[in-house]
Amino acid sequence: MQIGKLDRIELGVFPTPIQELKNLSKQLGGPRLLIKRDDLTGLGLGGNKLRKLEYAMAEARALGATAIITIGGPQSNHVRLTTAAANRLGLKTILVLRGEEPSRATGNLLIDKILGPDEIHFVGAEGFPSKTELDRIADDKAAEIAARLEAEGETPYVIPNGCRAIHGAYGYASCVLETVVQLRDLGTAPTAFVSAIGTSSTYTGLVLGTHLYTDDEAEAIGISVVATPAVDLKQRIGGQLDEACAVLRLTSAVPHEAIRICDEYVGAGYGLPTDTMREAVLLTARSEGILLDPVYTGKAMAGLIGLVRSGTFTSDDVVVFMHTGGVPGMFADTQIETFQSA
Ligand SMILES: Cc1ncc(COP(=O)(O)O)c(C=O)c1O
Repeated sequence: MQIGKLDRIELGVFPTPIQELKNLSKQLGGPRLLIKRDDLTGLGLGGNKLRKLEYAMAEARALGATAIITIGGPQSNHVRLTTAAANRLGLKTILVLRGEEPSRATGNLLIDKILGPDEIHFVGAEGFPSKTELDRIADDKAAEIAARLEAEGETPYVIPNGCRAIHGAYGYASCVLETVVQLRDLGTAPTAFVSAIGTSSTYTGLVLGTHLYTDDEAEAIGISVVATPAVDLKQRIGGQLDEACAVLRLTSAVPHEAIRICDEYVGAGYGLPTDTMREAVLLTARSEGILLDPVYTGKAMAGLIGLVRSGTFTSDDVVVFMHTGGVPGMFADTQIETFQSA
């Protein structure tokens, strides 16, 4: 089955631009660097989730959904974009946000409020639950809300944090194809894609896409921004690839050796600033005028810079950095100190 024939609702503005990072490449003495501007996907301030949501919302529509319930942290880019997409489609939105309600809404949460979901529920604020426990509390709350909505005559559709992996795989495999075509028009071809790994399906899609559309000539490198050890991430991504290959009825599975993860750039944990992230954000802003975010793309760019400096690429390489969005998170109260001394 071809990904292009799957049911999808157009939400974003595609293709997103691809731009040369000539100054950054020169400063690093590196390979040809390009940036895929998926921060400019054109709805709700943009970001990678829109490519996934195009498939998730198509599934919701096929099931007759009237209300979308989704889950995330108060600074979730996923929640912001899901709310924007649901507004566009005229669906109710109910948000389940993990943790305590902050006294002031900033960053993504402020944008959520402007987008105006029907309900916002903060859960798990008491008793310092572990991350696993907090996830369970949020899932239980989403299920409770879904049951209530059904009793009220609505048809709810739950979108998990970061969307279902299969939707991310479709969205980002398609993004590889889009990029290959753009680079063909520029007379070249990608040899590597570099992206952040959070919930991981963006990266799964890139691995799938390089296998399908570059005949394995390009590699996809994932820079983890979460505390999960690389071995566990690799196992999860392998499972997601196998699922995508089965659903798409591919004759040969994507070899798990294609999964390449760097986990040296997360620092003390998800969302916590690192010196290499700060350097990467400032270098990209000051050499190219392009803003990255502190949680995902800043750490991913730190990874790319580290790879260039350690001689991973040759001067013949054509490396595509995925700008997956997230810049509204720069204006969250939790990040406000990060660049005060810049
Ligand atoms: C801005 C941004 N970049 C990258 C990612 C990582 O994508 P994924 O969750 O598919 O790994 C996310 C979400 O987690 C994100 O919000």
